[in-house]
Amino acid sequence: MVRYHPLLIGIHWLVALGVLVAYITSGDPTEAGNAFEELVGQTHVAAGDLVVVLVLLRLPLRLILGAPAAVPMPQWQALAAKGAHVALYGLMLLVPLAGWCALSERAADFSVFGLALPLLSDVPPLLSTLGDLHPLLGNAFLWLAGIHAAAALWHHFKEKDDTLKKMAPWVK
Ligand code: HEM
Ligand code: HEM
Repeated sequence: MVRYHPLLIGIHWLVALGVLVAYITSGDPTEAGNAFEELVGQTHVAAGDLVVVLVLLRLPLRLILGAPAAVPMPQWQALAAKGAHVALYGLMLLVPLAGWCALSERAADFSVFGLALPLLSDVPPLLSTLGDLHPLLGNAFLWLAGIHAAAALWHHFKEKDDTLKKMAPWVK
């Protein structure tokens, strides 16, 4: 197998888009002052929720479909890449979960494009702390994804190996 399965490739790029949209629209969705800010806030929550749905599909698919063989590289690089991938999977779940805790603490109800989101009416202290950490975790997520993307581009343009081709079939 040379590339990831097309389903895994499609989900990878949809998740990347979802995270980017969530980041661009980030702010407090419960403090919207006008219709535009309301739309931005709802887009933030919708994009983050989409990331969760996609990663919950992606994890079992990844276990079933597997991954292409690793491109030969120094052991420290292979380890760093593995560590980053595991952390990114964790953050795809943890950041939206933390956002949901933050939202539960700020609002009694919240609708995303007319659909009411189930929220906790009473947020336990641990989840409240997780909610407080949501902006920090969201920023850390973006930094890690940025480093991960830079590493992929470095492999492609400097090392000229097949790392990016495994995830981007349109790359020659
Ligand atoms: C990948 C998904 C997400 C990312 C990258 C992300 C990122 C961020 C960032 C960076 C902030 C801080 C904005 C600022 O202070 O200017 C923020 C705020 C916020 N986000 Fe998210 N978010 C995501 C998903 C979600 C989800 C799914 C929800 C709700 C269900 C949510 C609810 C909130 C709330 C309530 C705030 C305001 C928190 C505060 O001001 O302390 N987020 N988000
Ligand atoms: C928020 C954005 C992103 C997230 C959360 C993310 C997450 C991940 C994860 C978890 C993997 C491991 C796949 C697996 O083994 O199941 C992966 C692989 C990969 N990603 Fe990303 N990614 C993002 C953005 C990007 C971008 C922008 C690029 C390219 C510029 C990129 C290029 C790649 C490549 C080439 C691989 C395959 C690496 C390999 O198998 O050695 N990713 N990504």
